[in-house]
Amino acid sequence: MSLSQSIDFDLDLINRYNTAGPRYTSYPTAVQFHEGFGAERYAEIARETNASGRPLSLYFHIPFCDTVCFYCACNKVVTKDRTKAKPYLDRLYKEMAMQGALFDKNRPVTQLHWGGGTPTFISHDEMTELMGKTAEHFGLLDDDTGEYSIEIDPREVDDSTLGLLRKLGFNRISLGVQDFDEKVQKSVNRVQSESLVLGVLEDARSLGFRSTSVDLIYGLPHQDRKTFGDTIEKIIKVDPARISVFNYAHLPDRFKPQRRIEEEALPSPGEKLAMLQQTIQQLTEAGYVYIGMDHFAKPDDELAVAQRDHTLYRNFQGYSTHSNCDLVGLGSTSVGVVGNSYSQNHHDLEKYFQCIDDGKLAVFRGVELDADDVLRRDVITRLICHFELAFEDVEKVHGIKFTDYFARELKELKPMEDDGLLKVSGNTITVQPAGRLLIRNICMTFDRYLREATEQRFSRVI
Ligand SMILES: C[S@@+](CC[C@H](N)C(=O)[O-])C[C@H]1O[C@@H](n2cnc3c(N)ncnc32)[C@H](O)[C@@H]1O
Ligand code: SF4
Repeated sequence: MSLSQSIDFDLDLINRYNTAGPRYTSYPTAVQFHEGFGAERYAEIARETNASGRPLSLYFHIPFCDTVCFYCACNKVVTKDRTKAKPYLDRLYKEMAMQGALFDKNRPVTQLHWGGGTPTFISHDEMTELMGKTAEHFGLLDDDTGEYSIEIDPREVDDSTLGLLRKLGFNRISLGVQDFDEKVQKSVNRVQSESLVLGVLEDARSLGFRSTSVDLIYGLPHQDRKTFGDTIEKIIKVDPARISVFNYAHLPDRFKPQRRIEEEALPSPGEKLAMLQQTIQQLTEAGYVYIGMDHFAKPDDELAVAQRDHTLYRNFQGYSTHSNCDLVGLGSTSVGVVGNSYSQNHHDLEKYFQCIDDGKLAVFRGVELDADDVLRRDVITRLICHFELAFEDVEKVHGIKFTDYFARELKELKPMEDDGLLKVSGNTITVQPAGRLLIRNICMTFDRYLREATEQRFSRVI
C-alpha cells in the first residue's frame, strides 16, 4: 500500500472528536439551500455555462423500489405496481427536453449515473427508451470513454439485464449488498443470497463492466465483529475494485421505515467502532486503500490513482475523477451543480409532476455561491479528496494570501495539530493517518456557516 494513503484508527481521538457534522458532498451544505433560488435563475446560469464548453455529468433519479429495506434513508417510493414507472418516465422525458434545450448539444456527457430507489425497477424496454431519449437531448459518448454508472439491487436483475445495460453504454455498477448474514438481512427486510450477489458481480466482469463497487452498512441490528467480519471476508474474496462501508445512522423520526428496526438489537457505539476498526484492518490487509469518507479502493483503481495525482473530486454521487463538469440533476429530488450554483428538484412526486406538466423545470430550491463560498468549497474539496493542501495552489486560483485569509482557521487547527490529526508545515496542510477518519472535523473549521450558526447560538444564550 502507498504510505501516503495509509490510515490509523486511534480510538481515543475518534471518541474525542466524534461529533455530528456535514459530509460535504456540497459546500455550502443543503442547509443553506433556500426557495429564493428557483427554476428561472437556474435556467439563466445553465445557459451561461455554455461559454465554457465544459463537459456535462447527468444524474437520473429513479425513485421506485419493490420492497422497503427498513434501514433505508434514500428518497424512494415503495410499490409493487410496475405501471407506476411510465407516468414518471414521461415527466422525466419532458424535463430532459427542457433541460437539454439549456445546454449546447456539443458538450460531451463524460459522466452519467442512474440512482435511486432502484433504477432497474423499470422494464428493459423502458431502460432502452430512457437512454434513447437521453441521446436525443444530450451529447452522449458512444466510445465507452465516459464514466456511465448505475446502482444495482441484485434482487432486481434477471439474466439479460446486465447485458442490456452494457449495451446501453453503462460501464460501472455499484451493488447494494449491505450484509451477508441471514439474521441481519431478515431484521432489515433485505434478504438476498450470497450466490445471487456473487453471480451478478461475475456477470458484470465477464460483460466488461470496468469497475465494480459494493455497498455495505455497519451498525445494523444483530451485527457484531464476528458476523460483519465474515461478510467482509466474503467480499474480499470476490475482489471488487471499490467497497463502500456506510455507517448506519438510526434516525427513526426522520426516516419512517427505520421505525421497524428492533432498537434493542442494534450494536452499541463501542461495538460499532470495533467493527469499523476491524473492517479497516481487513480491507487494508487485503490491499485496499482508504479513499476517505466510507470509501475504499484497490490501489490501481482510478479513484486511488486520482487521489495520488490530486485529480480526485467529490460531489453528490461521492468521489469521482471528473472534476470539471456541470452536473445536471434529472427527476424528483435530484441535485444539480451548474456554474456556481446548487439546485434541487422537488422531492414530492406530485409537485414534481405538477411543475413538469405546467411546462416548468422542477427546481424548488438552491443556492448561488459567492467568491468566499467558492474558495472555501475548493479548500474543503482539496482536503477531503487529497488529505493535503498547498497554500500556493489555492492562492493561484483565488487570488488571496492563504495565511491572511484563513488566519483564524489556521489558529483553530492548532489543537488538532497537537493531537496529531494534521501537520501545518511551511505552506502545506497535511492530514496525518490518524486524522483521515476525522477529516470532516478538519473541514468543519473552514465552514463559514457552521461558525456563524455557532456564534448565533452563543449570542442568543447571552
Ligand atoms: C441510494 S441506495 C440505492 C441502492 C439500491 N437501491 C440498493 O439498495 O441496492 C445506495 C446505498 O445507500 C446505503 N444506505 C441506504 N440507507 C442507509 C442508511 N440509513 N445508512 C447508511 N447507508 C445507507 C446502502 O448501502 C445503499 O446500497
Ligand atoms: S436500500 Fe435500495 S432497495 Fe432498499 S429501500 Fe433503499 S433504495 Fe430501495
